[in-house]
Amino acid sequence: MPRLDQILSSLGYGSRREVRVLIEEGKITVAGVVVRKHDSKANAHDVMVEGMALEAPDGLLVMFYKPTGYVCTHADGEGPTIYELLPARWLRRNPPVTSVGRLDKDTSGLILITDRGDLVQQWTSPKSDIGKVYEAELDKALSPALIEVFASGTILLRGEDKPCLPAKLEIVDNVHARLTITEGRYHQVRRMFASQGWHVEKLHRARFGDYELGGLKPGEWRLLAI
Ligand code: URA
Repeated sequence: MPRLDQILSSLGYGSRREVRVLIEEGKITVAGVVVRKHDSKANAHDVMVEGMALEAPDGLLVMFYKPTGYVCTHADGEGPTIYELLPARWLRRNPPVTSVGRLDKDTSGLILITDRGDLVQQWTSPKSDIGKVYEAELDKALSPALIEVFASGTILLRGEDKPCLPAKLEIVDNVHARLTITEGRYHQVRRMFASQGWHVEKLHRARFGDYELGGLKPGEWRLLAI
C-alpha cells in the first residue's frame, strides 16, 4: 500500500511538505481514525481530509463545457486556457489532468478532462471509432448535395493526401447542420466545410461517444464514473 503523504500529494492536495503539515495537524483520518504519521500506509479509499473522502482516488474523468475564447493547451501565450476555469488541484495531481483531444479556441462544447493517460490514448487513437457530434452554423445556405459528399469518404483536406472517413451530415435548417465524425484531425469540421466552399461561423460539440452535455452550462463540469 502507498504512503499517506504520497497518496495525498499525488491527488493534488498539496506538495509533499504541505500534506505532511495536514497530517501532523490531525486533519487526516484513515478508516475513521486520525493518523499523524505521514509515512503510514493506507488505502486511498479509506482516507478522508477534514471529513471528506478523497476526490477520484482511482483517476479523474470530467465532462467540461468549454466556452469559446479558451484554448485547450497547457502552454502559456496562446490566450486563456481551459485549465484556468478548472480547480487548480486537478493540475497538481500526478499525473496532472489533460484534455482528451482539443477543441479550437473559437469552438464551444463538450471536452473530456482526465488524468488517465490510458483513456486519452484510447479515445484519441486514429483507430478509435468514437462518434463526435458537432453543431455548425454556416455562412450561407446549405445544399442537400453535401450530405452525400460528406458520406462518401472522399473529402480531401487542404495539405493532406488521405481522404476523411465518411461523416454523417444532417441539415437542421438553412444555415445549421449537425455533423458526426469519427476522426479528430486538426480543425477537421471547419476544414471539411471549407473544402466544399462553406465557412463555419459557429461550432459547438454536443456529444463525444456516449457522453452528452445534458444540462451543463458554459464553464461548468461534471465528474464522470470511470
Ligand atoms: N473541428 C474543428 O474544426 N474544430 C474543433 O474544435 C473540433 C473539430
